[in-house]
Amino acid sequence: MRTTIRDIALRTGLSVSTVSLVLNHKEHRISEETCKRVFQAAKELNYRPNQAAVSLITKRTNTLGLIIPDITNVFFAEIAKGAQVRSQELGYSLILCNTNDDPEKDVDYVNVLLDRGVDGILLVTSVTSGKTSGEKCLEILKYTDKPVVLVDREIFPGTSNSELPGVFSDNELGGYMATKHLLSLGHTKLGCITGPMGAQSSKHRLFGHIRALQEAGLSFDPALVKEGNYHTESGFRLSGELLDIGVTGIFACNDMMAYGVCRKAAERGILIPTQLSVVGFDDLPFSEFVETPLTSIKQPAYEMGEAAVEKMIGILANPDLPCESTTFQPELVIRKSTVAPYMQKATN
Ligand code: RIB
Repeated sequence: MRTTIRDIALRTGLSVSTVSLVLNHKEHRISEETCKRVFQAAKELNYRPNQAAVSLITKRTNTLGLIIPDITNVFFAEIAKGAQVRSQELGYSLILCNTNDDPEKDVDYVNVLLDRGVDGILLVTSVTSGKTSGEKCLEILKYTDKPVVLVDREIFPGTSNSELPGVFSDNELGGYMATKHLLSLGHTKLGCITGPMGAQSSKHRLFGHIRALQEAGLSFDPALVKEGNYHTESGFRLSGELLDIGVTGIFACNDMMAYGVCRKAAERGILIPTQLSVVGFDDLPFSEFVETPLTSIKQPAYEMGEAAVEKMIGILANPDLPCESTTFQPELVIRKSTVAPYMQKATN
């Protein structure tokens, strides 16, 4: 049987109205000693507010929804962890939805979360090549007063206005840093395996890759760019085509695909880094511990999850304040998977 305010009144000998004022933090005319008695009794009786009743009054549930595309990718698990911890610290619950990169599921889960009465939605959109759910989700959200904060994946190019605040990384800079690193080692024939081009993050990383090539005076050869899907199998599958062309380095636009590149190299007896240098993106926790520790571009996924929750709660507290997007800076983490190509000849 759920403990009620009446049970606490009986336990303390106080009136129901006094107990209610204390539990609803309206205790300004009630002695500290009385407040302590109420909170002590509430703890002993395991009292939990009837959220449905509270919501009817406050129109809030203190619950957020987070939609992510692939819970098996630690990058999104880190976002979810940061969001969950920060939500709890700020007195919110978090409902996590995993869409398996199916844009239709984004739309389904936005509806489910609205039906559950969440106060706001944190959204990492699904992408398959060319298709994303963003516009459909935003269409639904237009008809509710629930705010949405985008995480990691913009929906439209340059999404940073108040209607669509978000937390992103500077993906173009990250792509530039990855390729610049390989070029600085002396590589001139570089392959790039992108994420699905329906994702702005994929496009921006490719733009950075191209910028670094052009800055080095190298012409951009589209034959050296393959569209992956951010999953390991596409890195494994597409790196074979790039190795056939004779690249000496590959920039894979996320670590999961970079692991696939390393698997393909092993299958062909190609040594990393002496015969092939590989750079990833995300800097997942595993990347430091794989057989050849992976050079990668770090995105602060945990902090992005925290920042998205803080942004959402700021919007809920001040709906009229313009809310800008936040962009985190990427970091090049150099490990053993990249060396200069001339060293490759020395050890061939
Ligand atoms: O690993 C999944 C990728 O998709 C990450 O790089 C993240 O930025 C997301 O866009």
